[in-house]
Amino acid sequence: MFTKSAKWYDALYSFKDYAQESAKIISLLKQEHPAAHSVLDVACGTAEHDKYLSKEYNVDGLDINQEFIQIASRKNPTGEYFCADMTSFALGKTYDIVLCLFSSIGYAKTLDGVVKALLCFEKHLNADGIIMVEPWFTPDAWSPIGRVYLLTAETPEGKVCRMNSSEQQGALSIFHFHYLVGTSAGVEYFIERHELGLFSVDDMKKAFDMANLTVRYDQKGLTDRGLYIAKRKHF
Ligand SMILES: C[S@@+](CC[C@H](N)C(=O)[O-])C[C@H]1O[C@@H](n2cnc3c(N)ncnc32)[C@H](O)[C@@H]1O
Repeated sequence: MFTKSAKWYDALYSFKDYAQESAKIISLLKQEHPAAHSVLDVACGTAEHDKYLSKEYNVDGLDINQEFIQIASRKNPTGEYFCADMTSFALGKTYDIVLCLFSSIGYAKTLDGVVKALLCFEKHLNADGIIMVEPWFTPDAWSPIGRVYLLTAETPEGKVCRMNSSEQQGALSIFHFHYLVGTSAGVEYFIERHELGLFSVDDMKKAFDMANLTVRYDQKGLTDRGLYIAKRKHF
């Protein structure tokens, strides 16, 4: 995953409008759960959303990448950040809102993994809490054939270039990210492999059902990737 590239993540994703997305999330949360005050951001990455969400809510986060956890803690110093796997975590705390954004749920890879993650989300939810999951692509909307993507960025520390191809194996989308990083120490090259499960809307709805959650799907969502909004079936 982003193990070797963590410190370049924010520069590479600087095209993403986290401020605007966070404003949309806050406005949605105000409608869905006006009394909410606590948020858990699952697979929080470098906490770019949390930077904005923490102006309205007490925001904690978790991510599997220790370097992201360190960056996130610096960005949102009032939040607690945990290094944990979204499919098997137990934090001993509950929240009004559990978020899983920017398609991070795809990293659960299989439908069984998604159900395990959603069961963990449900266990960390207060009685009237809300879960929001921004999904990865559905199998019919994703096509890897012949696509090559390039991102470049520059920071005071150096320059980074990431080029990737992708492939599909069954219900898995697989990315091969090639990085060239230039700093005062020289030029370094490394590769990262990312695997994300491709799930249909029906499969995702089934997964929510198996995790004792009722769910509504908004096809547009925050960034045109769709959004699942779920609650406990009985509270
Ligand atoms: C596309 S990034 C999104 C990060 C952040 N939410 C954002 O919007 O920038 C996907 C994130 O999922 C995290 N991740 C991948 N697998 C995970 C797992 N099993 N448990 C927790 N986090 C995971 C990665 O480390 C990465 O931070």
